[in-house]
Amino acid sequence: MINESGLIVTFDDIRAADERLDNPRVVKQTPIDRSTSLEQTTGAESVVLKLEHLQWTGSFKTRGAYNKISTLPDQQEVSGVVAASAGNHAQGVAFAATTLGVDSTIVMPKTAPQAKIEATREYGAEVELVGQDFRAAQQHAQSLVSDPDVYLIHAYDDPEIIAGQGTLGVEMHDNCPTADTIIVPIGGGGLISGISIAFDALSPETRIVGVQAEGAATVPDSLNKGAPVTADSVDTIADGIATGGISDLTLSAIQEHVDEVVTVSDDQISEAVLLLMERAKQVVEGAGAASVAALQSDELDVSGETVMPLLCGGNLDMTMLRTVLIHTLSRRRQLLRLRVHIEDRPGTMAELSDVIGHHDANIQTVRHDRAVDGLDVGEAYLVFQIETSGADHAAGIVESIEQCGYDVEVTTTNSLAWSGSPVVSCSTDSGVLERRPRFLGIDTAVLVSLRDVTSR
Ligand SMILES: Cc1ncc(COP(=O)(O)O)c(C=O)c1O
Repeated sequence: MINESGLIVTFDDIRAADERLDNPRVVKQTPIDRSTSLEQTTGAESVVLKLEHLQWTGSFKTRGAYNKISTLPDQQEVSGVVAASAGNHAQGVAFAATTLGVDSTIVMPKTAPQAKIEATREYGAEVELVGQDFRAAQQHAQSLVSDPDVYLIHAYDDPEIIAGQGTLGVEMHDNCPTADTIIVPIGGGGLISGISIAFDALSPETRIVGVQAEGAATVPDSLNKGAPVTADSVDTIADGIATGGISDLTLSAIQEHVDEVVTVSDDQISEAVLLLMERAKQVVEGAGAASVAALQSDELDVSGETVMPLLCGGNLDMTMLRTVLIHTLSRRRQLLRLRVHIEDRPGTMAELSDVIGHHDANIQTVRHDRAVDGLDVGEAYLVFQIETSGADHAAGIVESIEQCGYDVEVTTTNSLAWSGSPVVSCSTDSGVLERRPRFLGIDTAVLVSLRDVTSR
């Protein structure tokens, strides 16, 4: 089945998948939306967002899963499919299998978010919760396929999965045939393999840009080495692309069809999640916002171009949304924690509240700390958590407090984001993965074990 260029998947495979998926109850034609604010910030002539996060199950995953299951040999004999996943692949396989009348068993780690477990069950899968991480789940899934009529559905290392994801490339080209650049997130590489094979056939001059999260970027090393490189651990809020490795199959497609790969930080991804909510009114998960993070980064020049970033997933966990919101507002100084050194006497809190009030900033909380190492008797700290309109506003408040003769420390930013927020398990579709909270200034509240947090 390998063609002349050494690739297993061809555009004909994608066309065939497109026919199989030609049913709106299986795959919706997802809309596009032009973003004038992104045009202004990037200098692009036209930014056309592809809203695939509005797909059934909230991501493109149903395309590959449906194509794979419907091409299994001896359909009548298939007694079930199995997948190991903590994320979108779980929901895609469950939905596709149920639509095709096939039983599915999805093995998820016990640390998977409750919302994803419930959604996977609602799509008709039997969910088995096994182990604390993806690796344990995957081992168990393997043990379930000893029956020859039960098939394991891989998340990306499979020609039929890639061909199914490639149908999104055909649709993107139909939506925007004049795109100069398209931007596609990369985890295990199945998505970009399919899309880039489609674009190479339909519009070879279109630049294909892949995006990886900085804390899970194995493609640049894999390209340098000429072989898939696996990460020992991954560390990103974009769990959809926190795969920690690609495969021979997806590497060969990336080598042949992808023009550039850029990496983006969690700060850039968080900013993009928020920006998409504020400006485009779209709620996407970290992986789904990575394309917009890349678009906004200095690494990519799109001046004068028509560019299409792919918003490929919308399953944003509410806990993660809270974390991203607080983190990004803190980084923008719209949320600020000020620690003011005071003589502990009546009237000081009123005086400082007054200063902040005069700047029209909202005080969310105030804390009076006396029992702090290094403070002399009669000294204290007042810690204000305040909302501002941004960095200039915040700087003005700090200056006014200093002018009143106080020492002020801005202790805010990322500690706010994490305090009290559960650490999110990052088991992914291909394994590894140890999740380390990596934002700076972590509160001790965060330094609890993953098991403690995820079992809450
Ligand atoms: C929302 C989202 N975007 C992108 C990807 C990356 O896809 P792939 O692993 O095929 O590169 C995934 C994979 O799970 C995903 O869930």
